[in-house]
Amino acid sequence: MIKMTGIVKRYQMGSEVLEALDHVDLQVEQREFVAIIGPSGSGKSTLMNIVGCLDYPDEGEYILDGEDVSQLSPRQLAIIRNRKIGFIFQQFNLLGKLTAYENVELPLIYQGVPLTQRKRLVTQALERVGLADRMKHRPNELSGGQQQRVAIARALSTSPALILADEPTGNLDSKSGREVMEMLHQLNQQGNTILLITHDNDIAMEAGRRLAIHDGKIFSSEEYLKQANEARATRYRSRSAGIGAAPAGENAGQPAAENPQGEPACQPAAQNAPVGMSGPEPEQAQPRMAAAQADPEYKAAGREARQA
Ligand SMILES: Nc1ncnc2c1ncn2[C@@H]1O[C@H](COP(=O)(O)OP(=O)(O)OP(=O)(O)O)[C@@H](O)[C@H]1O
Ligand SMILES: [Mg+2]
Repeated sequence: MIKMTGIVKRYQMGSEVLEALDHVDLQVEQREFVAIIGPSGSGKSTLMNIVGCLDYPDEGEYILDGEDVSQLSPRQLAIIRNRKIGFIFQQFNLLGKLTAYENVELPLIYQGVPLTQRKRLVTQALERVGLADRMKHRPNELSGGQQQRVAIARALSTSPALILADEPTGNLDSKSGREVMEMLHQLNQQGNTILLITHDNDIAMEAGRRLAIHDGKIFSSEEYLKQANEARATRYRSRSAGIGAAPAGENAGQPAAENPQGEPACQPAAQNAPVGMSGPEPEQAQPRMAAAQADPEYKAAGREARQA
């Protein structure tokens, strides 16, 4: 569905050039549910804008559903976007003067869908999100959760193959957030490909696959955690060596042990790591990963890893 290779996006900041995306390779198969997690400023929205055909990369190739979209004109790009992609944003992005019905109808008008068909599709989409009885309400007459459901109905009305959700639960209370997530799961089960951006580890854990983004670079979250642990171990070893004291923990100060696959194990940091950063055991790897990502030191360690 999505195949990005070597995507670079630069922003000129005075005399400095910032690489908001630094040679990103991203592949998402049809019907996958992928979450991308990363701190503020890591490049999530920049990536989303390119995936969503709202912006162009400065370098690299982007194949969407078998079509090279990196070379298309803005007009062609708008057509692809309207036909293939449904957007769900943190701020809902509904038009305040339009009713729920009219908001959902808008992309169908852009597509030139005739009136009778439009009526059917809008009604179906609003029924699907449980808002058939709120069609005539304007956004300010709806709760946050209901507004997001209208936004989901709008994203669904054109039956897009790909749904892009940028922090879709970020402005919602936990119950409404839960409803939105349930809806995304349902859509995924019905065959939609979903790419979800979030700060929230618990939300990310619900996806079929997780990726991490940091300083414009993409990692699998497992790879990212491994790097973070290695950086912590290195830091610990050099700190221990610096003070000349015998480090605590039987593995401390030793090179990282290797697991049977020949990959360095995350063990060295275990003795001194905060909760959630200890060595991996396959059956516990996922909850631990979430706990580790929630740790503020996790991000710092990852940064160090790449600087090393
Ligand atoms: N139009 C722009 N001009 C200059 N710099 C930009 C522009 N848009 C984004 N940036 C910079 O690019 C980097 C990535 O920004 P981006 O908006 O993608 O981050 P993000 O991961 O979505 O953050 P957040 O979680 O806060 O939304 C940031 O350092 C940001 O300041
Ligand atoms: Mg953003």
